[in-house]
Amino acid sequence: MKKEFLDLNRQPIANKFLREDEFEDEFFYNLKVVFDDDTKLVSLKDFVKPELMFNDDYVYHTSLSVPMIKHFKETAEMLMKEFNPSTVMEIGSNDGVFLKNWNNDNTIGVEPCGNFAKVTENMGYQTYSEFWTTELSEKIKNDGHVDFDLIYAANCICHIQDLDDCFSAIKNILSEKGTFVFEDPSLLKMMERGSYDQIYDEHAHIFSVTALDNILKKNGLKIFRADNLSVHGGSNRIYVSHLPPEPYTFFRYRPVELSVRENLQREDDFGLNEFKTHQDFTKRVEKSKNDLVELLTKLKDDGKRIMSIGATSKSTTVFNYCGIDGLLIECITDTTPDKQGMYSPGSHIPVVDRESVNLNDYDYVFLGAWNFKEVITDKEKDFIENGGKFITHVPGVTVFT
Ligand code: TMP
Repeated sequence: MKKEFLDLNRQPIANKFLREDEFEDEFFYNLKVVFDDDTKLVSLKDFVKPELMFNDDYVYHTSLSVPMIKHFKETAEMLMKEFNPSTVMEIGSNDGVFLKNWNNDNTIGVEPCGNFAKVTENMGYQTYSEFWTTELSEKIKNDGHVDFDLIYAANCICHIQDLDDCFSAIKNILSEKGTFVFEDPSLLKMMERGSYDQIYDEHAHIFSVTALDNILKKNGLKIFRADNLSVHGGSNRIYVSHLPPEPYTFFRYRPVELSVRENLQREDDFGLNEFKTHQDFTKRVEKSKNDLVELLTKLKDDGKRIMSIGATSKSTTVFNYCGIDGLLIECITDTTPDKQGMYSPGSHIPVVDRESVNLNDYDYVFLGAWNFKEVITDKEKDFIENGGKFITHVPGVTVFT
């Protein structure tokens, strides 16, 4: 029973930055969000074809965000120490930011975006440039790989539309005592923060621990630990093992740790299992839109100049939902070379290199990458000292210095 609760209007491919001559043929779809009463899963009503999002032109380079390099290094060290796996596979290995921390003899990647698969192949990691499916898990086995002790995925599983197929593929290739660890944005954090911009084409689902627990169990897997992380504005790291076959032989399997029960309880207390909570979230989203448009319009009417830092997928959702274009926000800076010189999806705001902009020419900076608020405001101290102000819409629309 899927019930619709949010309509974020007509949206483009969130990470498809364009040249001017591509504006006319830009692809748009309707971004609507549903709640499944049975599993408690929050998903997009209509999925976008994966090939339109994940292809050789994919521009999100994880290694270009310095905080993320540190995050993946620390994660690899922690996983190595605790699980000491003999074989490792990463699903969605991007530009190798996590893989590079592992020995390339017994580590493989899966990455449908051909540009990145080439990068990790060149780093010496066998990389399957395909989408993660049961069929691919069979192919990997047929190629002679033994089952994996550690399967890791960051900001990838929530991209996969058919979760039953995804998890049965994991079950198919996870060694008996193996661990599947994945991290994705948290629905609870999104709801608490009002950060509706976590919703865009790539995020086919926004996960609660509750929904994952329900769907993993259906597929013969179980969550034994759930960590809450601060990355991407609040993510959950989920640790999964095989579900013991009945009659239970507990001693061979990891016990479910307290963190799982605590997360399930917290989500239930917040009301994540109730449709009404999702409907209330919609009211907050609508207020956020009205407040942001009102603020930006007033500043513009007062002759202020506004730009944005971080050409994120999140800001694609915000700009297109709120109808913000180059008249309100003059340009966006981003550290990703592939985005520079292009225009933002749908809103067609020019994206430029930070070095080419004198921030002091502007009065306000909108934080498109609000999840890197500390890093960015720290880097831009000079702007603040010169009287510049930042605008964020998370957790509510505010101006700050
Ligand atoms: P994300 O929020 O999806 O991780 O994307 C962050 C984007 O912001 C990415 O394109 C890199 C960019 N960025 C900057 O332009 N400046 C910065 O200081 C940081 C941390 C990120």
